[in-house]
Amino acid sequence: MPASIIVGAQWGDEGKGKATDLLADRTDMVVRYQGGNNAGHTIVVGDEVLKLHLIPSGILYSHVVPVIAAGVVIDPKVLLEELDGLEEKGLDPFARVRISGDAHLIMPYHRELDLLIERRLGKQNLGTTRRGIGPAYADKASRVGLRVQDLFDEGIFRKKLEAVLDHTNLVLTRVYGRPAMDLEAIATEYLGYAERLSPMVTDTTALLHEALERDANVILEGAQGTMLDLDHGTYPFVTSSNPVAGGALTGAGLGPNRIDRVIGITKAYVTRVGTGPFPTELFDEVGERITDIGGEYGTTTGRRRRVGWFDAVVARYAQRVNGFTDLFLTKLDVLDAFDELKVAVAYHADGERHHHLPPHQSLLHHAEPEYVTVEGWGAPTSDITRYGDLPRPARDYIDLLEQQCGAPITWVSVGPGRAQTLERR
Ligand code: GDP
Ligand code: IMO
Ligand code: MG
Repeated sequence: MPASIIVGAQWGDEGKGKATDLLADRTDMVVRYQGGNNAGHTIVVGDEVLKLHLIPSGILYSHVVPVIAAGVVIDPKVLLEELDGLEEKGLDPFARVRISGDAHLIMPYHRELDLLIERRLGKQNLGTTRRGIGPAYADKASRVGLRVQDLFDEGIFRKKLEAVLDHTNLVLTRVYGRPAMDLEAIATEYLGYAERLSPMVTDTTALLHEALERDANVILEGAQGTMLDLDHGTYPFVTSSNPVAGGALTGAGLGPNRIDRVIGITKAYVTRVGTGPFPTELFDEVGERITDIGGEYGTTTGRRRRVGWFDAVVARYAQRVNGFTDLFLTKLDVLDAFDELKVAVAYHADGERHHHLPPHQSLLHHAEPEYVTVEGWGAPTSDITRYGDLPRPARDYIDLLEQQCGAPITWVSVGPGRAQTLERR
């Protein structure tokens, strides 16, 4: 049985955690393929709210093997804290989670640099999560990164750390006027994590392929979203990895012919945390209400998310770069209270109408959305259990989004809980 990829279709926080948890019911393995603890994926089961940062969202099912693949960057302290937290909740993550030895480590200087770089950028800052993600991926690309497997060979670990710290300390002291970081302290801390991590570290690529050969069902769980992709997002206001479907292949180590479903997760409106262009952003009272009703505050940083109307131009672009076979529409219930809703169907920039995303960044910054206004449904949807029971204007809204996006909306989510999901076909 081939694998499914779950990808955020917007700027992150679309509800990937909820969707992955729901679909993991029928899954044997859930693989995180990129990003790190910049992600915050929420799962709600009954009264329990679980916020995951590095652990794949299949963790709640004892039959699921949660895998952290090579494309992820791991802050080992954060990982162990998350594992401990899950164990306290009665789960057995240490026995089940599998970690790639090829995954890169987030080091203390990565976190420090993330902060310093943002501060130096001043008003031009990206609004990163300050978890050291960008600097860790930068070291990986510069081929001076340390990997999980290095933790198990003290000699190699120290040698690599010494080489990179030589240069990094120059940057910290000479460019930023900060104290140099102590090799010994870092080595002691990190090598100290090895013993607890060791039983979980394995060849996750082999594990994944053996599972697929056994006809297992696999979900590749993306973090962030299409518009935050390093190559295909709103650069430079992006993250430093590839959340798009292609990133699942490189991050997990498998070929495109193994994928049979690419599921795009999209909110019924749009949110974004951090800086960067956002053509349908709302600055009025409607936006405030969506933020409040939707509880639009970051899962990782607690920051208030920017909100805006559904953007079909972004959705069409996400469809192109990911090749969604299905869409999973979330947070429809947040729109219950509105008399009318807007959907951006095109942009106007530079005297032209753009049906597709304009290729140049500056056009995006100045794009004026062309909206269609539709009737709201003004009735609660959270307790509805059958798609056909949704109010007619809600179904019309979903039909409009589907027609604009170009992929079938297979699931509609009307609340954070598992049961609050309507399967359409
Ligand atoms: P992720 O990063 O894509 O996993 O998304 P987050 O967990 O950061 O943010 C999504 C938030 O919306 C979480 O608090 C979810 O519990 C919540 N959520 C998911 N789906 C729905 C829905 O259909 N309705 C409502 N009201 N909340 C939802
Ligand atoms: P999940 O997986 C929303 C944003 C940050 C910032 C930019 C770069 O929960 O959807 P980084 O720390 O990655 O270098 O920050 O990316 N960002 C997210 N926004 N959801 C996320 O993850 C995000 N991860 C990073 O706010 O704008
Ligand atoms: Mg999130």
